[in-house]
Amino acid sequence: MARRNKIYEGKAKILYEGPEPGTIVQYFKDDATAFNAEKKDVIDGKGVLNNMLSEYFMKGLTQIGVPNHFIKRLNMREQLCKSCEIVPLEIIVRNYAAGTMSTRLGIDEGTQLPRPIVEYCYKDDSLGDPLVSEEHIAAFGWASQQDMEDILSLALRVNDFMSGVMFAVGIKLVDFKIEVGRVYDGDFQRLIVADEISPDSCRLWDMETGRKLDKDVFRRDLGSLSDAYTEVANRLGVMPKTSTTPTKPTLVN
Ligand code: TYD
Repeated sequence: MARRNKIYEGKAKILYEGPEPGTIVQYFKDDATAFNAEKKDVIDGKGVLNNMLSEYFMKGLTQIGVPNHFIKRLNMREQLCKSCEIVPLEIIVRNYAAGTMSTRLGIDEGTQLPRPIVEYCYKDDSLGDPLVSEEHIAAFGWASQQDMEDILSLALRVNDFMSGVMFAVGIKLVDFKIEVGRVYDGDFQRLIVADEISPDSCRLWDMETGRKLDKDVFRRDLGSLSDAYTEVANRLGVMPKTSTTPTKPTLVN
């Protein structure tokens, strides 16, 4: 295989130039980080699971007409995507209080919110992705008013889709984060869902037991992260047969 040119290496993924203009390749690593990379580990098979799960969610979004960057999965760890200009915001949608919202506002984790609440954080690791208001976003020119309307609509559509998909397999979608990017058709610009949608960027709780099936397992030392992600993948029928860890070659007579 030809060597790919690396564009960027993040905490959980590496981006390479794609085979054609306007494309990139996302490589999913096994690295897990939390608390702005203060806590780090390598979780065998996490990259494979997130690659498959993100493919599953993005394909579903395409089927219901929510534009996103996914083109096709290339192999167990890589997917081909449309390249886009990432809007420097982490867009968070919450259905139940948890994490920073619970800490900030003193609301018990798991409290159902009166309606989905959308929050924006400015994407800057050195600042710890601070929460910002639409005033900041407009004043600093991170996104236009039209962009914000489109972002809200994308975020709520992703929320409805993801909540339904998870509900069907007995999982509560507590909250999640998406990123969006700009693609250009000549002078025309539109926004698409980019990055990844996986248990790394969602809170997923088993409806019956409340068991956490997301990155909080790693953040809060609650057991095996790959077991939790495998459970999500199995319930969704995303990885029914294959193992995520490399197997030794078997000799065939
Ligand atoms: P939040 O509760 O704000 O932060 P934390 O995960 O540090 O407690 O996160 C809300 C949801 O958004 C949660 O599912 C994790 C996800 N998220 C990310 O994946 N990346 C981010 O940079 C942020 C801010 C949130």
